[in-house]
Amino acid sequence: MINLKDFLPSLNIKDRKIFVENFDLENLKKETPIFVYSKEAIDYFINKVKNAFKDYDTKIFYAVKANSNINILKIYKENDIGFDTVSKGELFRVLKVEKDLENTIFSGVGKREDEIEYALKNNILAINVESFSELKTTLKVAQKLNKIANISIRVNPEVNPKTHPYIATALKKSKFGVSFKDALLMYKLAKKEKYLNPIGIHFHIGSQIFEKEPFLEALDKTLEFIKVLKKENIILDFIDIGGGWGVKYSPNDPLFPLEDFAKKVINKLKNFEYKLKLFVEPGRYLIANTAIMLTKILYIKKNEDKTFYICDAGMNDFPRPSLYQAYHYIEPLYQNKEDIEIVDIVGPICESGDFLAKDREIKKCQEGDLLVCFSAGAYTMSMASNYNSRPRAKEILVKKDKHIVIRKRETLEDLICREILGD
Ligand code: LLP
Repeated sequence: MINLKDFLPSLNIKDRKIFVENFDLENLKKETPIFVYSKEAIDYFINKVKNAFKDYDTKIFYAVKANSNINILKIYKENDIGFDTVSKGELFRVLKVEKDLENTIFSGVGKREDEIEYALKNNILAINVESFSELKTTLKVAQKLNKIANISIRVNPEVNPKTHPYIATALKKSKFGVSFKDALLMYKLAKKEKYLNPIGIHFHIGSQIFEKEPFLEALDKTLEFIKVLKKENIILDFIDIGGGWGVKYSPNDPLFPLEDFAKKVINKLKNFEYKLKLFVEPGRYLIANTAIMLTKILYIKKNEDKTFYICDAGMNDFPRPSLYQAYHYIEPLYQNKEDIEIVDIVGPICESGDFLAKDREIKKCQEGDLLVCFSAGAYTMSMASNYNSRPRAKEILVKKDKHIVIRKRETLEDLICREILGD
């Protein structure tokens, strides 16, 4: 038996329809495609993470790339959560809800000089350095600004997280982080330089990982390395163990054992040679299962032996199925249907790769019916595009039976507002 609350804890079924909290999605039937976030669900996941780590000095940094809407960021800020960022654009967004970047870390393999400058000028908590060259650039910018740069170094602990190759980041051949050998040289250089202050260490081994073992293996390897640093008189303030905790997209997905994982991590840190603060950077875990996308079936088409539900949302709105062959659970809004059929749920975009679900068993629908696409909070709107010149969807945030608009639907004019018609 599928429990829809696994995909959205604040979901209710009333009058044989799906409600987000007490908000009737039928109200949105003329507004599809649309993203609907639930404040109650956002709070639920914040509390879950906070509780899991409550017995240790832990700071949570929300990975902005998962969903960067400033209203979402504001909720995390109000809950004392910091931000994990990877671009000047994300730093800019954080500065819309925070007065400076004292609760923000800046990661990414290719930071430009102007981005590092922007981060330092706004008092970034730490720049997470990913290469020797970047360390030198950071030093140069810090000297120019006459400002000490707090840095951490992203190490690659070389563990196999057993996930989709596009979202595994700690394999030996990955572009992310540096080996422990290189990291040692980088820390030694940083310690010598007046303008660099090495305060932390970081790893992020990949995303959508359900087992705790790869994380714990990475943690063990990194703690061993911190002992080596200590022998060099390099004492760190924090260890940042990244994000990547798996979330439920399909009824077959397990639940990530967060509480057990947190206990094991805390235990290792409590038994370590000296006190390190713990930083975690969940993105998807905090936001994926707090939202749905509502789409309308425009047409039902049968070709040979296949049935297609052609929807008004496509891969530009909901890109994960096309990009990663990702599974997202989909259910008709109206819960009064009986017969089952197997269909491809597709968008209107001119590409065969434009689908929301393939060969999916679903309760038989009719043209005009609404579909609820679950786990739509993470890497959906933040990866949405204007492909096929389609304006991006509207987003609303539900609180009980009320809602606020957190992003207006784009207009046709928005599509061309940066273009200049030449002679
Ligand atoms: N920290 C760092 C340094 C990261 O690179 C990422 C994600 C995170 C934290 C957050 O990971 P999460 O907890 O959300 O898994 N677009 C892909 C996911 C790419 C993730 C990139 N890095 C997807 O839709 O599956």
